[in-house]
Amino acid sequence: MVRVAVVGAGSWGKNLVRNFASSKGAVLAAICDKDDKRLHSFEGAYPHAKLCTDVSDVTGDDSIEAVVIATDAPLHFEHAKAALSAGKHVYVEKPMCQSVAEAEKLEQLAEGKGLKLMVGHLLLYHPAVDKLKSLIDSGDLGDIYYMYTQRLNLGVVRSNENAWWSLAPHDISVINYLFGAAPEKVSAQGQCYLQEGIEDVVFATLYFADGRLAQVHTSWLDPHKMRRMTIVGSSKMVTFDDMETAEKVRIYDKGATANLNYSSYGEAITLRQGDVHIPKLDMTEPLRIECQHFIDCISKDLPVRSDGRNGLAAVRVLAAGERSIKAGGKPQEV
Ligand SMILES: NC(=O)c1ccc[n+]([C@@H]2O[C@H](COP(=O)([O-])OP(=O)(O)OC[C@H]3O[C@@H](n4cnc5c(N)ncnc54)[C@H](O)[C@@H]3O)[C@@H](O)[C@H]2O)c1
Repeated sequence: MVRVAVVGAGSWGKNLVRNFASSKGAVLAAICDKDDKRLHSFEGAYPHAKLCTDVSDVTGDDSIEAVVIATDAPLHFEHAKAALSAGKHVYVEKPMCQSVAEAEKLEQLAEGKGLKLMVGHLLLYHPAVDKLKSLIDSGDLGDIYYMYTQRLNLGVVRSNENAWWSLAPHDISVINYLFGAAPEKVSAQGQCYLQEGIEDVVFATLYFADGRLAQVHTSWLDPHKMRRMTIVGSSKMVTFDDMETAEKVRIYDKGATANLNYSSYGEAITLRQGDVHIPKLDMTEPLRIECQHFIDCISKDLPVRSDGRNGLAAVRVLAAGERSIKAGGKPQEV
C-alpha cells in the first residue's frame, strides 16, 4: 500500500483527498492544511489520516511515500522541492510552478532521485481526450489544420496568478499531446480589469513548426461557462465540450476540398456537409483515473503520463505567453 499525504485541502484539494482515500493500493495517511478550520472539517471522515498544519509534518514523516500538492500556485515549487528532497514521490497540481527554471529544477531533482513526479494535467486522463488522440492518430480527421480552445467562466478570480497561468495549463497540455509536439512560438494578448497586473482574459496563439495553429482563450470574466475544444482536419472536424454531461465529443463529417482543375470560380472549392457522429465514451471521473495512475506508477514503477517533462513543456509555453503579453502580443520563442 502506498501511503499518501495531501497538502492543501481547499476547494480542489478536497477532491484529491476523496479520490486518494478510495484509490486501489493507497492509504490516505495525512491531510495537511495551514487553515485549522478547513483541516478540522475532515475530522472523523478518514480514520487513517493524521491531520496536520505544517508541510514539514508530512515531509519529515518516514512512513509517507507520496505527497500530493494542491496549495496555491506560488507554493507549488517550494512544496514539491521539499517533498522530493525528502525522498517522496510527488503529484503537484497545475501549473507545475511559476517559472521555467523552477520546473527544470523539479524535473532534475525527481530524475536524479529516481522519484515519480506527476503534474495535475487532468485532461490527459480524460476519456474524451483519449478519443481525440485516437481520431487524430488513426488519420480519421485527415491532416490536422488547426485547433482552438475556450476555457471561460465568471470566477474563480485568483490574486496570485493570472487567468492564463491558472486555466491554460489544461489546454496547453492537451494541444501538445494531440499535436505530438510543442509550439515554436506563442503570441498572447491579455488585459487586467479587476486587479492591477493580473490579466483576467488572455487570447493566445500557438505556432507549430509545420504550420499548424492553436488558439487558446482563457478568462474568468465571462458570462459563459465553457470548456470546449474544436479541431479542424482536412477530412473531418471534431468538438469536445466538457460542459455536456454525456455527448462530449462530436465528429463532424464536414470539410472543404480545393479543386485545381475547375472551369468556373464557383467550382474551385467544394464544401462537404456530412453526418455528425457522437461516439460512446467511458464516463469514469478523469480525476479518479489520474489519482489511480499516480498510485499505479509508484507501486508498479510505470512511466507517468503527465510527468515532470510534460509539466516543464507546459510551463515553457506559459512563460513564453507571459513574455508576449508584456511585449504587447509580439510572438515569443518557446
Ligand atoms: N486540476 C484541476 O482541474 C484544478 C482545478 C482547480 C484547482 N486546481 C489547482 O489546485 C490548487 C489549489 O486550488 P484551490 O482552488 O483548491 O485553492 P484553495 O485556496 O481553495 O486551496 C488551497 C489550500 O491550500 C492551503 N494552504 C495554503 N498554504 C499552505 C501551506 N503553506 N501549507 C498547507 N496548506 C496550505 C490553504 O489553506 C487552502 O486550503 C491550485 O494550484 C489550482 O491551480 C487544479
